[in-house]
Amino acid sequence: MSGPRSAFLWGAATASHQVEGGNRWNDWWEFEQSGRLPYRSEEACRHYELYESDFDLARSLSHNAQRISLEWSRIEPIEGLWNIAAITHYRRVIAAMRARGLEPVVTLQHFTCPAWFTRGGGWTRADSVRRFRRYAGYVAAQLGADVRYWLTINEPTVFIKHAYVTGDWPPCMPGSWFKALLAMFHMCRAHVAGYRELHSRRADAMVGFAHSAPFVQPCRPGKLRDRLAARLRDFVLNDICFLMMGPAPRRVLDFVGINYYTRQLVVWRPKGAAWLFGSECTADHHAAPRAFNTLGWEIYPAGLEGILRRFGKYGRPLMITENGIATSDEDERTRYLDTHVASLQKAVDSGIDVRGYFYWTLMDNYEWTAGYTAKFGLAAVDRQSQERSPRPAALRFKELCERTRHPGG
Ligand code: FCB
Repeated sequence: MSGPRSAFLWGAATASHQVEGGNRWNDWWEFEQSGRLPYRSEEACRHYELYESDFDLARSLSHNAQRISLEWSRIEPIEGLWNIAAITHYRRVIAAMRARGLEPVVTLQHFTCPAWFTRGGGWTRADSVRRFRRYAGYVAAQLGADVRYWLTINEPTVFIKHAYVTGDWPPCMPGSWFKALLAMFHMCRAHVAGYRELHSRRADAMVGFAHSAPFVQPCRPGKLRDRLAARLRDFVLNDICFLMMGPAPRRVLDFVGINYYTRQLVVWRPKGAAWLFGSECTADHHAAPRAFNTLGWEIYPAGLEGILRRFGKYGRPLMITENGIATSDEDERTRYLDTHVASLQKAVDSGIDVRGYFYWTLMDNYEWTAGYTAKFGLAAVDRQSQERSPRPAALRFKELCERTRHPGG
């Protein structure tokens, strides 16, 4: 990548509940046991034990960074009680990354919360901010010296949508618009609190959050109502959480983490409670053929450059903290990587300050309500033996990491 090359981070991202296995103290585990889901995470990828060999794999693929998340429910399984074994484990995990030349990028909270937190009202409670600050403060005191790059919270808008609008994720409260707004506000305040805690331990910390950034466009740009619906949806999905961070979001963001997967083509459809935000177009009337991943998300590489330009306006460095494809077709995954990295390169060439790129994900893992059916991994995982097998696209990504690491490459 041209630009500030020496600092450019290349790696893959994972999240605790999706890979560790046995996260029995969190709200998702409880949800999985309730029988309302066809899939349970169970032992996941046993990454809690196998992290060293997983980092060997990342190093063998020429990554120089790795994004992981800490499991809050392991660190604070009971409110106010810290589990020394868990924090010691994560200290070892970080040391294992460093020993392999992998710069750690660490997320404090990636969708899952301790069961006690969610049972007691979760993010809708005003004191959720204080609870998160206490957790962030403890982690900062324990691990702050070992980690420079932090993400406080992963994808608040995605969590809010599933938890309080569609209601298919815990705490499963569909149609709870007021709760959605309240929880969003508290998560944004929690980010600010976490930012301060992490900075109080390390002045040169780089703290951001991971924002899910769909590239929103009107389906029929000639129609005012589609343009309005797209503008509104873009505002809700891509602006509100920054506004809720206070009058100067720049001051509480050392960088912005961008999770980019897809484009949303919006049409005006005045029905249902969410009519104001339009609907995603499902019609087959587009001039250019559209491609979708196995979860039905449109593949749109140009949107990555578009979204990087859009978020460049905050004047903060950006980092692609997730980008990837669920597919069983390796040619498609390789094409996805090539075209998205090319789109990233265009943004960097035009002067946008991007500091890293993390492919989602290192190995196939527990993809929430889709269970183990979605294949996002650079490596496949045998569910019986837990053996990891790098896919052809992993080798392509290796080449990209090597080729673009050096100036002039
Ligand atoms: C993102 C999530 C991540 C994973 C990918 C496919 O929205 O952050 O955990 O599920 O989607």
